[in-house]
Amino acid sequence: MKILITGGAGFIGSHVADACIREGHEVIIVDNLRTGYERNLNPNARFVKMDICAPELRNLIAEEQPDIVDHHAAQISVPLSIKDPLTDAEINVKGLINLLEACAQNRVKKVVYISSGGAMYGEAEEYPTTETCNPRPLSVYGINKMAGEDYLYFYQQQYGLDYTVLRYANVYGPRQVSHGEAGVVSIFTEMLLQGKTPTLNAYPDEPDGMIRDYVFVKDVVQANLLAFSTGNGEAFNIGTCIPTTTRRLYDEISAQLGISREPLKGEAREGDLRRSMLNIEKAKAGLGWQPSYSLKQGIAQVIEYYKDFLGDQI
Ligand SMILES: NC(=O)c1ccc[n+]([C@@H]2O[C@H](COP(=O)([O-])OP(=O)(O)OC[C@H]3O[C@@H](n4cnc5c(N)ncnc54)[C@H](O)[C@@H]3O)[C@@H](O)[C@H]2O)c1
Repeated sequence: MKILITGGAGFIGSHVADACIREGHEVIIVDNLRTGYERNLNPNARFVKMDICAPELRNLIAEEQPDIVDHHAAQISVPLSIKDPLTDAEINVKGLINLLEACAQNRVKKVVYISSGGAMYGEAEEYPTTETCNPRPLSVYGINKMAGEDYLYFYQQQYGLDYTVLRYANVYGPRQVSHGEAGVVSIFTEMLLQGKTPTLNAYPDEPDGMIRDYVFVKDVVQANLLAFSTGNGEAFNIGTCIPTTTRRLYDEISAQLGISREPLKGEAREGDLRRSMLNIEKAKAGLGWQPSYSLKQGIAQVIEYYKDFLGDQI
């Protein structure tokens, strides 16, 4: 199949591109390198440096006629979405509409849309959270991811454009940048390897930090591959359903590195949810997907990656 991946120079999208190429698919990557890197690009993919908001995107899709569009490009910072809601809407709403218009006009068979199983549910009433839980986003990023899902439904109803939504928990793995907003595994690993002391952000009444559902990027990639041919018109949580506090995460990384150093204490950031954990029964039944990497195994791969990436700096 011909697969067009937006955001394929970024952390997760680049792993999806690698897997698609391994599976023998033809891959086109569209990315404006806002937060992505050329070093992540698979040399066997065709790379088009382009903004998803650009009118030229429609010409590209008309020329390439991809079978599947896997949409990972996004503004991903929750705090930035609160400080600058217009930029978030520009990329995460207007960019999506631009893409969906092009897909509908060119009879793309399916769009895989990446949503958020943390930011969209907000402080969920149901825990672990299922897909039917009433979304109550506490950030502009979460609101716009939710709006994105509604746009997909509309384009399916109006134009017959098929889709599957994947609502990711907290994804971690090699290539996640340590200066981003969602990369606590990378931040802790890089700082500890460099001999620095990371800060553990927490609410005062919960000193072990927030509860998150950490899912390894290779498991997330598998969910994308399955979504190409299953789960039509549905949304699926992609997580592990295992709760992990920031402290537990810190302890696992430092133990694997053989370091015993207390983290510094910091305050929770704007928009930080206290807890987030996803029920994944629907993905098991509907996509035939389930995570296979434990936190220990995933962290071991992140450490290997960072040792290699940092090289002489450690
Ligand atoms: N990392 C997580 O834990 C997580 C959790 C939930 C959902 N997601 C979603 O997964 C997707 C990928 O996230 P990631 O963590 O790999 O982030 P990332 O920043 O590494 O990847 C995003 C990519 O999109 C590109 N991009 C941004 N704006 C663009 C634009 N206007 N035009 C073209 N390309 C543009 C960036 O350059 C980057 O390569 C996003 O949709 C994000 O919202 C991620």
